[in-house]
Amino acid sequence: MHSPPVFWGGVFWSSCIRMGAKNRIVDDIDAAVEVLRAGGLVAFPTETVYGLGADARNPAAVARVFRVKGRPLNHPVIVHLAAASQMDGWARAVPETARLLAERFWPGPLTLVLARHESVGLYVTGGQETVAVRVPAHPVALELLRKFGGGVAAPSANRFGKVSPTTAAHVQADLGDAADLILDGGPCAVGIESTIVDLSGARPVLLRPGGVCREDLEKVLGQPVEPASASGVRAPGTLVSHYAPRAEVVLCGPGEIGRRVKAALRSRRVAAWGGEVDAPGVVRFPQPESAAAWARDLYATLREADRLGIDILFVTLPGEKGLGLAVADRLRKAAARDPSS
Ligand code: TXA
Ligand code: MG
Repeated sequence: MHSPPVFWGGVFWSSCIRMGAKNRIVDDIDAAVEVLRAGGLVAFPTETVYGLGADARNPAAVARVFRVKGRPLNHPVIVHLAAASQMDGWARAVPETARLLAERFWPGPLTLVLARHESVGLYVTGGQETVAVRVPAHPVALELLRKFGGGVAAPSANRFGKVSPTTAAHVQADLGDAADLILDGGPCAVGIESTIVDLSGARPVLLRPGGVCREDLEKVLGQPVEPASASGVRAPGTLVSHYAPRAEVVLCGPGEIGRRVKAALRSRRVAAWGGEVDAPGVVRFPQPESAAAWARDLYATLREADRLGIDILFVTLPGEKGLGLAVADRLRKAAARDPSS
């Protein structure tokens, strides 16, 4: 849903930031550019999830993103760019592997980790010598980035460890007035975060499965992409417990979901996602017909479970091929409540 367009222009928005005025959901990209230039925070749509953006060259603005999210300072943020040609301003060296992947998958749900250019602040990289960059495939994000001209540092626009937002309304519900402005670009088409590939070492490493599947990366690179667990590479911010709704998420096989739902129904409000369940009183979420549909519906379904006051959500995992790998990754993290587990 779009609120009426805003006509007042940049001066208005700059003064809004100073006055601490309430944020708004708008479709005015020029106003968003002004907010970024003034050091403010803009929530914006991408094809994966909504991001909470700040000028990546402005330490105070990026610090505010961390504060708003409640995110530890050693968790680096992705720098969003309008075009692959801008990579050289952010990376000390752009390897051929990065050029190949950028050419094939950008704009798109792929983030590349490269050796950071000396001009890139450690406040963006979480103190590391690498920087993550991505060109998102969403017309609103691309126009914002083109008009802004610089890099926009943006984590997902949710509080730390919670479910990522895939609509402007989700952002508003999570962050309230903490973003100066929310750009509404409709629901995110992919629905799950970008794939992160580390290209700063000798071999490519998959730090996070996401919107581009590993099989496709390997086809383009002509070499294997190792999972982070096998490589020993540190993947900051990829905690075990993440993406968690209030409801307890329990993973189970298709053969056991019916029995487990019935047992839980005695004392709790129960929902089931996928599998065969025939029990009165259980809330059913339909099984998505493809991995892409799983990804698109994932976070909205977790939020819907919370809205309905579900205590426990039983889920059968999708097959872990293609996009299914990223969906299963997020569901495992949603189910792991204890970060040490
Ligand atoms: O799809 C996405 O990637 C979304 C949209 C908004 O672009 N963004 C997103 O950001 O998911 P965030 O901050 O929620 O997750 C970014 C992940 C974190 O796990 C972070 O640790 C990792 O990227 N990351 C960022 N820079 C890195 C670096 N230099 N080395 C390793 N991991 C990095
Ligand atoms: Mg996130």
